[in-house]
Amino acid sequence: MDSSQDGYQLGSEPPELERLTRQGQVLEPATRTLLRAAGVGTGMRVLDLGSGAGDVSFLAAELVGPTGEVIGVDQSPDAVALATARASRNRIDNVRFVVGDIHEPAPGGPFDAIIGRVVLLYSKDPAAVLRTQVQLLRPGGVVAPIETDLTTAGSRPATPLASRLVSWAAEGFVAANANATLGRELWEVLLEAGLRPLGMLGVQPHFGPGDPNGPALFAGMIRTMVPLLERTGAATAREIDPDTLEARLTEELINAEAVLAYAQLLCAWGTKD
Ligand SMILES: C[S@@+](CC[C@H](N)C(=O)[O-])C[C@H]1O[C@@H](n2cnc3c(N)ncnc32)[C@H](O)[C@@H]1O
Repeated sequence: MDSSQDGYQLGSEPPELERLTRQGQVLEPATRTLLRAAGVGTGMRVLDLGSGAGDVSFLAAELVGPTGEVIGVDQSPDAVALATARASRNRIDNVRFVVGDIHEPAPGGPFDAIIGRVVLLYSKDPAAVLRTQVQLLRPGGVVAPIETDLTTAGSRPATPLASRLVSWAAEGFVAANANATLGRELWEVLLEAGLRPLGMLGVQPHFGPGDPNGPALFAGMIRTMVPLLERTGAATAREIDPDTLEARLTEELINAEAVLAYAQLLCAWGTKD
């Protein structure tokens, strides 16, 4: 796949879906805070754009409760199959997943809330995606995308490998034609989509030295990006050494007693009324 190619380039193979599942668990508290702030709650019908392994949909399903319903849309049949299997395994029956492109109106409307986490960054025109889906929003409904600001990520104090990982991640997202700082632009994106922004909040997960989740999340992201980074010449697999990356980062952070900050997650929410 050419690095200039359009569309999602981080794959949907089993290891990537496994990574999304772990990422989903680690980002759950921040996501819960953001969705609650945006007003996602009891009895709502929710559309989850780019639902991946299903984690945001499952969280939304819990927030809306048995009287509500969630529909997750993803272009990857593998992701939809995995999310569907997880829903059935965990007996979550107020959620369903469908294959579809978020640039087309989703099935199953109308909705009280349209959400999505780290998916708009892969679109050339995030406002156009929202404009398309807003047709399915009920009066008084809310649109609440969640995206990252990668420039906030890093270790405190700064340590060499953590800093290198953040640079590689930045290069990887550029190579994937993805805007990893879209989070801080979400207010403008809502305006551009013809929506009236109501609020905006940022939450940033931090991991203490010795917390395995931070290195796992960062190393997992870079492992996914190795082919992209090699293709653009940003780094070689040998330099990255993906098999030992997580252990090296863990050791570095423990030795420096450094806290690892994940990219801030930001949500702006608004309405069409
Ligand atoms: C980084 S993952 C995030 C998954 C999930 N929202 C989460 O936070 O765990 C991005 C997901 O968006 C999906 N995606 C990317 N572009 C899409 C598009 N145009 N239409 C539908 N799904 C898309 C990918 O298949 C992938 O599952």
